[in-house]
Amino acid sequence: MTFHAFKSGMEWYNCPAISIVDLKWTDQRMNAPAKNEEFAAKIPDGVYAETVISVEHYTDRLFRFRMTRPAGFRFRSGEFAMIGLMVGEKPVYRAYSIASPAWDEELEFFSIKVPDGPLTSHLQAIKPGDTVLMRKKPTGTLVLDALTPGKRLYMFSTGTGIAPFASLIRDPETYEKFEEVILTHTCRDVAELKYGFDLVEEIKNHEFLSELVGDKLKHYATVTREDYPFTGRITDLIENGKMFADLGVPAFDPEIDRGMICGSSAMLKDTKELLEKAGLNEGANNKPAEFVIERAFVG
Ligand code: A2P
Repeated sequence: MTFHAFKSGMEWYNCPAISIVDLKWTDQRMNAPAKNEEFAAKIPDGVYAETVISVEHYTDRLFRFRMTRPAGFRFRSGEFAMIGLMVGEKPVYRAYSIASPAWDEELEFFSIKVPDGPLTSHLQAIKPGDTVLMRKKPTGTLVLDALTPGKRLYMFSTGTGIAPFASLIRDPETYEKFEEVILTHTCRDVAELKYGFDLVEEIKNHEFLSELVGDKLKHYATVTREDYPFTGRITDLIENGKMFADLGVPAFDPEIDRGMICGSSAMLKDTKELLEKAGLNEGANNKPAEFVIERAFVG
């Protein structure tokens, strides 16, 4: 199978290797209750109303869900969209990185649960068959097009900041453009790392991705509030050189290394400073450079 065939939606739909998990999702979708007419009447104009296919809770703070993808909805791996729910009579939206890759027939999101968050306090209760709203236009800077060519791509994430990278590490284009891809994920405790471990496992076991990715992807997971073989904030591990030693790679080189950062505002600022100190410049869609950043959205 050629690379382009792999990327085309049709090829994917025709893919004979449907896993048990996929079958379960399909089954849930077929059994999904018909949309409540009263609810449907309230859905604002100009937004997609999609059906939840599956929900997985990792901890009391983190969960992921998958939902149907509107037929005409296009996005680039790494972008985010505005996701919402009707809360009473009004829609409430928050920005969410799309965690599934651009070729996927479904959409995946990885979310924090904020107990009194205007959206997440409701979103955390969704079940298969429920309706989730999505505004029509995706956007974002964590896209391959915003980086100049390089050899090694770092993806630095904390918490739910791993979501856009969950999309990018499942996109064959990432491995076409880079020889080595290093995903760093730092969370408070080990249970919060599970989404990342599951992702890498999924890629390893995936019929086509496993071959394409080979040993190009390195996953560097650390925690800050629990004992674990790898501990510490990624910023500290860069500064003291431990990240490079653990990964067996040289220090940052602006000729070779590219970066993408997604986490809290403080994490973005601190990581950005370290990349700039190493001589990398921040880029954007209209001005590609050596690294790009995006806030991990919560609420
Ligand atoms: P720490 O436990 O030392 O605060 P959160 O769940 O609060 O979003 O944090 C996710 C991870 O990001 C935690 O491991 C946290 O470490 C880490 N973190 C918080 N602030 C920064 C920062 N400024 N730079 C790097 N990592 C950070």
